[in-house]
Amino acid sequence: MERIKEAIAKARESKTGGLTDAPGAARKAVKGADVIDGPIVYNQTRVVDLDLGHLEENRIITIDNEDPNSISFDILRTQVLAKMEANNWRTLAITSPTPACGKTVVAINLALSIAKQTDYTALLVDFDLRRPQVAAYLGLPKDISFADYLDGKIEFNDTLVNPGIPRFVVLPNRRPVKNSTEILTSRKVKSVVADLRDRYEKRICIFDLPPLKSTDDAIAFLPQVDCVLMVVASGETKPSEVKDCRRQLQSSNLLGVVLNKSTEVAKTYYY
Ligand SMILES: Nc1ncnc2c1ncn2[C@@H]1O[C@H](COP(=O)(O)OP(=O)(O)OP(=O)(O)O)[C@@H](O)[C@H]1O
Ligand SMILES: [Mg+2]
Repeated sequence: MERIKEAIAKARESKTGGLTDAPGAARKAVKGADVIDGPIVYNQTRVVDLDLGHLEENRIITIDNEDPNSISFDILRTQVLAKMEANNWRTLAITSPTPACGKTVVAINLALSIAKQTDYTALLVDFDLRRPQVAAYLGLPKDISFADYLDGKIEFNDTLVNPGIPRFVVLPNRRPVKNSTEILTSRKVKSVVADLRDRYEKRICIFDLPPLKSTDDAIAFLPQVDCVLMVVASGETKPSEVKDCRRQLQSSNLLGVVLNKSTEVAKTYYY
């Protein structure tokens, strides 16, 4: 736990990190959260502290660079970014054939890994509108919800949260949304996606989506993103389900398939 605390403190102090205003710094892009030369200033996005024990309980491990399990996410991050950079892609959806394969755990760890280890800003969006879990896994305050924006109760900028990690912003949702397929393909959501994508020069947007076989939400939303990652659960997902979903994803840029929940012990080289 101490190590995780140190990791957060270090990230906050790093030269690309600080969360305080940097007088005189030139702005490159402004809206919601601002990018300046050097530190990022979250002067509109709400900053909240994460509970490290809660993160560990929910398998959010890439907050700690020293966690031996984070190596899998380092490899995933490098592979994902290499493909996205090569194609100039900036938006990535995460889905799976069936529920509980680990999409949300993978989405959060990948987004954190990108924010902490690269010079990209990572934006994590909870677009599993029927069963939102990102906020619960991160332990974010209950009063910040995309559903409230959809209902016209709050301004869009009030839905964004910085969980105390530089270059990491979350668009959480706290309650299920009715007519989610219609919402995900609505003009309002299309404009949100375009705005989020273009808000920063160097930003990767990750969208946590529902499973492909449970609803048509994911397939309806996918045309709005550049590429998609499929998460499957070792020992749970059937080969026929993977095949079926690959067929469903034929018109999308499938970056690859993540085999999650593997019980095989990773062979380490140096350690
Ligand atoms: N690599 C893993 N090893 C063991 N358990 C895991 C792993 N990844 C995720 N889990 C656990 O599996 C459960 C489902 O994970 P998660 O919520 O990320 O799946 P999901 O695909 O997003 O589910 P849903 O379809 O309901 O959105 C959680 O209890 C999570 O802690
Ligand atoms: Mg999920």
